[in-house]
Amino acid sequence: CGIVGYTGTLQVKDILLRGLKRMEYRGYDSAGIAVQTAAGINVKHKVGKVAALANMVDSMDIVGTCGIGHTRWATHGKPSERNAHPHTACANDIAVVHNGIIENFASLREELEGRGHVFSSETDTEVVAHLIEEAYEGDLFGAVRAACNRLAGAYAIAAICEAEPGVIVCARKDSPIVVGQGKTGALVASDIVALIDETRDVVVLEDDTFAKLSCDSATGETSIEYVDMEGNAIQPEITHVDWDIDAAEKGGYPDFMLKEIYEEPRTIRDTLAGRMVNGHLQFDELALNYDELAAIDRVYIIACGTSYHAGLIAKNLIEAWSRIPCEVEVASEFRYRNPIVTPSTLVVAVSQSGETADTLAAVRDARIKGAKVFGITNVVGSPLARESDGVIYIKANKEIAVAATKSFLGQVAALTLLAMLLGQLRGGLTTAQIRMLFRELADTAQQIEQILADTDTIEAAALACKDAQNALFIGRGIGSTICYEGALKLKEISYLHAEAYAAGEMKHGPIALIDPGFPVIVVATKSPTYDKVISNIQECKARGALVVAIATEGDEEIKKHADYVIYIPKVRDCFSAITASVPLQLFARSIALARGCDVDQPRNLAKSVTVE
Ligand code: G6P
Repeated sequence: CGIVGYTGTLQVKDILLRGLKRMEYRGYDSAGIAVQTAAGINVKHKVGKVAALANMVDSMDIVGTCGIGHTRWATHGKPSERNAHPHTACANDIAVVHNGIIENFASLREELEGRGHVFSSETDTEVVAHLIEEAYEGDLFGAVRAACNRLAGAYAIAAICEAEPGVIVCARKDSPIVVGQGKTGALVASDIVALIDETRDVVVLEDDTFAKLSCDSATGETSIEYVDMEGNAIQPEITHVDWDIDAAEKGGYPDFMLKEIYEEPRTIRDTLAGRMVNGHLQFDELALNYDELAAIDRVYIIACGTSYHAGLIAKNLIEAWSRIPCEVEVASEFRYRNPIVTPSTLVVAVSQSGETADTLAAVRDARIKGAKVFGITNVVGSPLARESDGVIYIKANKEIAVAATKSFLGQVAALTLLAMLLGQLRGGLTTAQIRMLFRELADTAQQIEQILADTDTIEAAALACKDAQNALFIGRGIGSTICYEGALKLKEISYLHAEAYAAGEMKHGPIALIDPGFPVIVVATKSPTYDKVISNIQECKARGALVVAIATEGDEEIKKHADYVIYIPKVRDCFSAITASVPLQLFARSIALARGCDVDQPRNLAKSVTVE
């Protein structure tokens, strides 16, 4: 979900719509705005993308210079106009937008209904509007604080009320919110991209702090005040954002996904930059001394979605190079069972956004159990970065397309470095080996450029598969881990059902699916199990499968077995995870486009899942 708010001298409607558009990648099943007008607060909602809301309000006369907006990804209550934010109380006197989940909303709602409040939506957010209404005694700032005092769960909130023109109050607990003083007014948003046109100096609100943005209607002057839970004034730190607005624009590419795939070589280079100094791996920020690191006897990698797949790849490297047992687990499972976590356990939490609710909850549990936690994230200052004992940033820059691409490669590169570090500490890798591995890892940037230079076969293979109902991705070893990500990419953006299997498992079930023309995508790069993979291809081919193989340059043999062969440069097996993922991303994108899908904003998905 995304929040935006503005108070200043300009008409607010277009500023809100622009901000919402920028944040649409965070969730987009409905959108809405609330504007203070001379005739009271004017609230407009629309199910669907921000463009639908923009079309609706385009011709409407919504005159006002203070307002809030929201783009929603449904949690409580299905996507509908009724459930779209902003939510109001007291006949539109108060309007609220909210990200996160109010855990005690059911009991609060019952309590409020008992006192005569009438609810008009199914959302947890509406209780916030009613709580503010009850607490309101002429001071919105105080009323929002009093309301938040009653809330359990996670929230980023922005509220306006009719009685206080030009005022927006916002609050934060476990869900990001940023505030900035722009050229023409003051702004609030849940993501810096929504503010960046107006200002590059922002305050990232801390948990349990509040901000009041005001614009004096006589002078047009704006001011921002900050307080803590008790109402004491605080002076938060200002962060200067130096990344370019281009990061939020497509830069000439037809879609963000393609732009971001083309940024993969740079992501690898930037993620590795400064990591090898005088022939030694450099990880100053890990905040653990080498003795502590050396005492680690178990590694858990916890993550969700694509980040989980980066973990599957890393498990192979960590165990091979350091011989430390490593388990990879989806965060939503890890946190609800009772995993064996001790003070000598290293938990590596991988999250592009650094704000995935399940991953954060798992991190908190692990820390309570005494584990050391390393975060691997793309977002500086994200909750994961703040809550980890050490953090390795990947340098993907802002990723806009919902389906992760460049951030995945950045994660794999960062995890590879971590595996090398553990290998070095455990004596599994010599200094000379580390240097060689580092060089080869760095070379993958240029190898990806080579892959991106010629994508004709990928396109042709995609066209051959585009009308399928199902597809299988198979491989062995590192190849099987790449398949999990390849299948996820395909299903999430093209809605073509795809599954990944360890190729050796085919004969235990999945092969029953194969009939003439059934697409089987095989990662068949040169590896210790190459011959076995070829046998698996033959088994599929014998049953009429349409085989698309990702193979190592120079492998002529494979042409006999596959319908389409996508060649990638020769690399060490463990680094094929990086190179082979690129054609699979492009393959998924081409199929999605051929099927008429929106590759940047697939249905039902959100870039940041801040709910459990
Ligand atoms: C969502 C996104 C995925 C992402 C996953 C985990 O489902 O759509 O692309 O892999 O969340 O996100 P994280 O930010 O924790 O890596």
